[in-house]
Amino acid sequence: MLDLVNIFKTFEKGTPNENKVLRGLSLHLEKGELVTVIGSNGAGKTTLFNIIAGAVTSDEGRIVLDNEDLTYEREYRRARVIGRLFQNPHTGTAPGLTIEENLALVYSKATNRFPLTPALGARDRRLFTGLLARLGMGLEERLKVKAGTLSGGQRQALTLLLATLVPPKLLLLDEHTAALDPVAAKKILGLTEEISAGHRITTLMITHNIGSALEMGTRTIMMHKGTVVMDLKDDERKNMTVEDLLRRYKHTVHENLDADRMLLEE
Ligand SMILES: Nc1ncnc2c1ncn2[C@@H]1O[C@H](COP(=O)(O)OP(=O)(O)OP(=O)(O)O)[C@@H](O)[C@H]1O
Ligand SMILES: [Mg+2]
Repeated sequence: MLDLVNIFKTFEKGTPNENKVLRGLSLHLEKGELVTVIGSNGAGKTTLFNIIAGAVTSDEGRIVLDNEDLTYEREYRRARVIGRLFQNPHTGTAPGLTIEENLALVYSKATNRFPLTPALGARDRRLFTGLLARLGMGLEERLKVKAGTLSGGQRQALTLLLATLVPPKLLLLDEHTAALDPVAAKKILGLTEEISAGHRITTLMITHNIGSALEMGTRTIMMHKGTVVMDLKDDERKNMTVEDLLRRYKHTVHENLDADRMLLEE
């Protein structure tokens, strides 16, 4: 489904600040897999997502999604098949637009209904109300409320809905619950699993929470210095505790996992 082949990226090449961030990274994902990604600060996780999404160009390597070579495809074209969520809940929604306007804009763009208008028919409104109700946050009662007035958790739930309204082939989640309180984070992680599995969306999720990395989805990869150093699945993953993983990491890369944010979380 997704094939990343031998990806290299060096920032500020040829300067004293040269930084080899990705060093021949390869990864294959099956359709519908939810794979969690962990790794120390600066391991290259966000850069990898930027390269997959087309925001950053790799120096070498290929990106193939659903048999389509995206390596030289522009970012806006990839955005049609790749959804992305970030840590900051404010990045995914238009704060000045209401919940239903946010939904209508994404929906009309995706269904090629022109002109792009936030005007809603009764059928659209029913559809949106149903989708919002499934989030279990009462947002279906608040269609006319501006997205900017929602809490971080509500906003991230709306962002998740917007990003998957038309299910993308690939969903990239970059610490999308890190800015939320633990209760909201748990709720969003639950919704993430539900939506990803419900639509069988191939999903990569970066997290600093090793506990949820091991619990969510079916596979966990560990990045270190620009390559994948661990790929855990099946029984090996099922039986692994957070302590086992940290021990294994140390054994593999001869360093402690740079866990500034990690161990403090549940
Ligand atoms: N556009 C850029 N220009 C120069 N250097 C960059 C750029 N983007 C990232 N880097 C550098 O690449 C390295 C990897 O950064 P990246 O954001 O991919 O790490 P990460 O694994 O996501 O870390 P974190 O867990 O802290 O989010 C860092 O040293 C960073 O400073
Ligand atoms: Mg990052």
